[in-house]
Amino acid sequence: MKINQASRINGETDNFLSRQQELIRELKQAGHEVISLGRGSPDLPTFPDIVDEFLQDSKKSLNHGYPPYGGKQSLKVAIQKFYQSEYGVELSLDEITIFSGSLAAITALPMVLLNPGDYALIPDPAFFGYQNGVKMAGGRSYPLPLKADHQYLPSYDQIPPAVLNQANLLFLNYPNNPTGAGATREFFEETVSFAKQNQIPVVHDFAYADISFHQSAPSFLSVPGAKDVGVELYTLSKTFNMAGWRIAFAVGNQELIHLIEGFIRVSFGGVFGAIQDAVEFGLLNSQEGRANLRAVYQDRQAAAVQLLKAHHIEVLDSAGTFFLWIKLPNDVDDVQFANDLLKEKYVAVVAGSTFGEYGKGYIRVSLVDQTETILETLKRLISFIEEN
Ligand SMILES: Cc1ncc(COP(=O)(O)O)c(C=O)c1O
Repeated sequence: MKINQASRINGETDNFLSRQQELIRELKQAGHEVISLGRGSPDLPTFPDIVDEFLQDSKKSLNHGYPPYGGKQSLKVAIQKFYQSEYGVELSLDEITIFSGSLAAITALPMVLLNPGDYALIPDPAFFGYQNGVKMAGGRSYPLPLKADHQYLPSYDQIPPAVLNQANLLFLNYPNNPTGAGATREFFEETVSFAKQNQIPVVHDFAYADISFHQSAPSFLSVPGAKDVGVELYTLSKTFNMAGWRIAFAVGNQELIHLIEGFIRVSFGGVFGAIQDAVEFGLLNSQEGRANLRAVYQDRQAAAVQLLKAHHIEVLDSAGTFFLWIKLPNDVDDVQFANDLLKEKYVAVVAGSTFGEYGKGYIRVSLVDQTETILETLKRLISFIEEN
């Protein structure tokens, strides 16, 4: 029988990264040693005391049943304390909801905010999840170019009024994947007034919150009025090395929190109680672990940028994240380049156009291996750039 796929998922389940994973598997099976600096999955383990806490909590029978909708009260209290001590942001318990990874909320938000044909404003380049979520919800994406000459921040004054009239969601993400750019408090203040003026809910994806090198990355909620217009998504995947555990939360505007929670209740369900307990412990006991992790990424970034610049390769001196955003010389096709690099040098990186039109001509390298391996891999990359 021929299976007819619904148009809303056309293309979404077969993206660059899944095809790349397939090719890596084939190359490994053929005996090649592939180094993957493609996916953004942290290489270091979860902090050991969080794992120990989880082992204890997993034995509690209370955790073996369905978890409460929206997350455990005890974890919400820990999130309150965490946001207060890290960002000076006061939250009430109904301004917090917990789910299985931020991708769940990124999918839920277009579903609960967009009617067919409505616009979501999405940075370009950006994490693929925003675009996919909007498409699956039947919405339209309006790209906000992130350009070097505007510090990789969107220019709201370039959006046509017809789009603004039909827009009901704005995604932002700083420190930014894939560029590594940071946002300022002034930009977030501008965002709040833009959102109020045009009545557009804001979602700030704070996935790389802690991985900020020159100064602490501001929380969107720390600027006045932010809670009136939006929410912030905080995942444990990157900053706690917990990508496999699948846990994240949203904080901010109560109505939006309620909508996310409602959608997640009927779709994804909750998060294993022992994971929630371990995160409760982690949020309150992780300052040192997170600072060490930030230092690791900062060292890797500095060494990698120094090597690339010594070979006159254009790379953004990133403000945060564990990504390098590298400009390919001579209008080289980034998809072709990334595919050939994998097949010929056994190095996986992500083609920039995977992240949008404005990613064309770039590649993204994830600093998710030891510095020595990263530098060796970059040498292979550099020689490939020089040969092409
Ligand atoms: C900007 C951004 N948001 C969200 C995610 C997904 O995070 P999670 O593991 O919480 O689903 C990623 C993962 O790469 C990301 O880079």
